[in-house]
Amino acid sequence: MSSTENVPAPSRLVTDSQSEMTEIILPNDTNTLGNLLGGRLMHFIDLVGAMAAYRHSRTHVVTAAMDHIDFIQPVHVGDLLTLKSSVNRAFSTSMEVGVKVWVENTQTGVMLHVASAYLVFVAIDQNGRRVRVPELKPATADQQRRFDDALLRREHRESESARRRKARQVTAALEVAAGR
Ligand SMILES: CC(C)(COP(=O)(O)OP(=O)(O)OC[C@H]1O[C@@H](n2cnc3c(N)ncnc32)[C@H](O)[C@@H]1OP(=O)(O)O)[C@@H](O)C(=O)NCCC(=O)NCCS
Repeated sequence: MSSTENVPAPSRLVTDSQSEMTEIILPNDTNTLGNLLGGRLMHFIDLVGAMAAYRHSRTHVVTAAMDHIDFIQPVHVGDLLTLKSSVNRAFSTSMEVGVKVWVENTQTGVMLHVASAYLVFVAIDQNGRRVRVPELKPATADQQRRFDDALLRREHRESESARRRKARQVTAALEVAAGR
């Protein structure tokens, strides 16, 4: 069920919803070697991404997708993790949000890039019905580049989803044929 017929708010700027959070990495966040767990990092990415999506849409949001992530740098217990998010593009009820993560060594102050990710959030109302989101207006050359690239990534996600859907159907049909 969707409520996409509702009138979205006027367009918003990227700077209206850009978000940031910093976490100190504690033993509970790490593996047996004292390195940040990948799943914990994905949780932080999801949270900071949702902050930007909330601020852009001013409604509830759910995570629809998180793209491929490379973990470039290890993060150790006691390090500071800084995550920044911004909405790259708003579509009808969904928004692509980009997240970039840095680790700061508290002793030296050196900051290194840890990971980047793109997420898609879908805006929903109190009853779980999808709602339209305000348009995003890019205001700088970088914002325009991210806005343009977001459309290409959306097309790629859609074709990958269709390919996976087809593969699931083939597997299901084979299982039926095999009597499983
Ligand atoms: C995300 C969700 C709301 C989409 O609902 P749906 O009825 O399948 O919606 P549709 O397929 O009609 O797509 C609605 C919008 O979501 C986008 N979308 C849906 N699935 C997507 C996916 N896997 N990746 C990216 N975008 C996706 C569509 O592109 C569309 O965007 P638009 O309105 O801006 O054009 C629904 O699948 C859901 O509730 N998923 C669970 C979300 C959740 O619980 N997340 C927490 C992690 S478990």
